[in-house]
Amino acid sequence: MFTAIALCVAVFLTTALLSDNLPSGPPDEGELPGMARTHDIELGVAVAVNPLVHDGEYRSVITEHYTSVTAENTMKWQYVQPQRHQFDWSGPDTVVGFAESHDLNVRGHTLLWHNQLPSWLAQGSWSQDELRQIMREHLRALLGRYKGRVSAWDIINEPFEDTSPHLRENLWYRVLGPDYIAEALSMAHEIDPEARLYINEFGIEGGGDKADALHTLVEDLLQRGVPLHGIGFQGHFVHGNVPEDLADHMRRFTDLGLEVSVTELDVRIPEPSREDALEEQADEYRRVVEACLDVPRCVNVTVWGVSDQHSWVPEWFPGYTDALPFDEDYGPKPALSGMTEALSRRPSQRRPHP
Ligand code: G3I
Repeated sequence: MFTAIALCVAVFLTTALLSDNLPSGPPDEGELPGMARTHDIELGVAVAVNPLVHDGEYRSVITEHYTSVTAENTMKWQYVQPQRHQFDWSGPDTVVGFAESHDLNVRGHTLLWHNQLPSWLAQGSWSQDELRQIMREHLRALLGRYKGRVSAWDIINEPFEDTSPHLRENLWYRVLGPDYIAEALSMAHEIDPEARLYINEFGIEGGGDKADALHTLVEDLLQRGVPLHGIGFQGHFVHGNVPEDLADHMRRFTDLGLEVSVTELDVRIPEPSREDALEEQADEYRRVVEACLDVPRCVNVTVWGVSDQHSWVPEWFPGYTDALPFDEDYGPKPALSGMTEALSRRPSQRRPHP
């Protein structure tokens, strides 16, 4: 009798250990947040304020499938401080409030960028001291207001030129020189010492000169003790060009002691997009999530928009479409199954968090 019970217990334990949280049936998309948490990874989505307030289906897609949100536009300088010293918190507060009431993390996007600046700032003629003061005021306003509520910030966005390995000669660079990056990161760290501070960049996902230049910059910043915690791989891909070796390129940065995130994932398909392209796109989404799972300090994969109805792609890339995991009517697409499939694998001990 005792032997039979012991045998049953042993069989049960072995089965439980082998299954190790593996879902038993086919992946269920409704379980995505739980699956992401099991892997100690965040699955995020960029959100816009208007549909967040007015569209219940939009909100449901977010709360049922994701664990973090990024404000697609409303935390950008143009909207937050449209006039000097006049701050508009309505959009950012809506996003952060929504996230808090649904237990979602928030990635803050974005502080220093060459785009979407208000004209008072972009067209002003500033001394170094003035621009430093403006930078400090803006960082203090945003990071101060959301201290402890926004876990990671894209402090520096797209510091390199679009297709070359040279630092972009944006407003900050022109007035303060290349060290504007270190200055901003240091200021941000003083304001919120707990926040994870990021440089967010595109065109680095498959390596190359621009990724090398970013790596060199980052090594220098870290050697000088500048508070930098993460690199954002934006991940705006064209269907057919999602790099096979994304994980390797992320590891180059985690080897320096940083975390990485895929911050703005989408995969645009040239029109007309057919069923087979959507199936291939599913594989591409799967590979991106798997790459993150393969890199112990990859902490977040965020898709850049809730549905194809909200994607920036058709406006910016005429002739491309279908970039996101939900279609214009909020129907789940194969891409969503691709992400689910990646998250269905056995969880591993991926990191301790730094
Ligand atoms: O604010 C105006 C609004 O007043 C007007 O009614 C409306 C009419 O179309 O346009 C609004 O501005 C739009 C703005 O987004 C806010 O919705 C602009 O036309 C539009 O061009 C702008 O595009 C954004 C783009 O950044 C600006 O560079 C996209 O939505 C946003 O997805 C995109 O996000 C960037 C990341 O921040 C950084 N990485 C690249 C990524 C894609 O460009």
